[in-house]
Amino acid sequence: MCVKPHRLFSTLGIVMKSFSPAAVFSAAFALTLAVSISAATLTHAEKEPGAVPAQKAPEDLADQDSMNGYALADFADFQKNWHFVTVRYRKDTSEMRLTYANDIAWAALNAKSTDYPDGAVFAKIGILTAEDPAFTSSAVPSGARRFQLMVRDKKKFADTNGWGYALFDAHGKASGKDVDIRSRACDACHALVPERGYVFSEPMRLDVAENPEVPQAITPIAGNMVFETVAIAALPKALQEKLPKGAPQVRQLRGSLEKNIFRGTVDEIRPTLAAEARRTDMPAVLASTDGTLFSLMYLDGAACAGPDGKPGVTIKGFYTTGEVPGKTSNIVPTTYCAPKE
Ligand code: HEC
Repeated sequence: MCVKPHRLFSTLGIVMKSFSPAAVFSAAFALTLAVSISAATLTHAEKEPGAVPAQKAPEDLADQDSMNGYALADFADFQKNWHFVTVRYRKDTSEMRLTYANDIAWAALNAKSTDYPDGAVFAKIGILTAEDPAFTSSAVPSGARRFQLMVRDKKKFADTNGWGYALFDAHGKASGKDVDIRSRACDACHALVPERGYVFSEPMRLDVAENPEVPQAITPIAGNMVFETVAIAALPKALQEKLPKGAPQVRQLRGSLEKNIFRGTVDEIRPTLAAEARRTDMPAVLASTDGTLFSLMYLDGAACAGPDGKPGVTIKGFYTTGEVPGKTSNIVPTTYCAPKE
């Protein structure tokens, strides 16, 4: 299902509302890692056979004030007192992310440190956007926020490359369960950028008037996403059943991500998989090593109208909604309308 531009935000608003506050996940690939799926539309394919109703909030979320020993209240007013680093935007879910750095993190970031000193902290706010009824083309913040922290303590968090991760819902509540699995999953993705000290964000230049020549683009780094072509028989059974008929092989994302995965990873990886499926014309998958969490995207080929009204091509898929590997999980269909080249 693809939606017309003027319906995009409201449609996604409904979809995301049904997911929220389970939309308590991390990070965006849309801008950084899946550039070819520009302005893709993400929908919950409610008409698909076997589709399950939208997820309720996972029971184990929002039961604590802190994760890894850090509460949001420990960093009260960071939005006012810290340095604004950058804004990012996850196109497929219309989520804006604002990142802030405390003084120590800010100094290290600007020095392009790859080994942040203890005490450095980054905070990120995720805010959904929706159409402003007063002016259709303008998206406005529409709530369903979540907060994320990265706190540098090399000794305490030696297992996760020296960063302590914490995830909070819109009310500042954290999950007290599966902290270790979640932290490793945060780390597994941030470990894609060791060249930046495991920090994705780079300062957005707001002084363009003084420095018109300063590029706004991020520093390119070698892609650390490794896909391999694998036989279908090597995949988890539940995933095999969701593959389109006749696909002999798939592109599988390997490395630390498949070993350390949580719901957020499975969700966020969809645009990356869609881009790989588009590039190779093979289904692209990420699956936890125990096979209980996965994400699958494949080229459907049907014509669709992209968000700009331009002709697009349909990419379909399925992903699990379980929180962490080994836990009960629904399999939910998903559809993108990727722009035709
Ligand atoms: C699947 C990849 C992925 C996972 C998993 C992930 N992140 Fe991130 N994270 C990113 C990306 C990409 C950014 C860059 C900003 C953006 O696009 O939202 C980011 C940015 C951040 C930032 C701002 C500093 C920076 O690196 O730019 C914080 C803080 C953060 N993440 C915390 C977390 C926490 C806490 C978790 C686990 C609950 C987590 N992340 C899991 C990919 C990920």
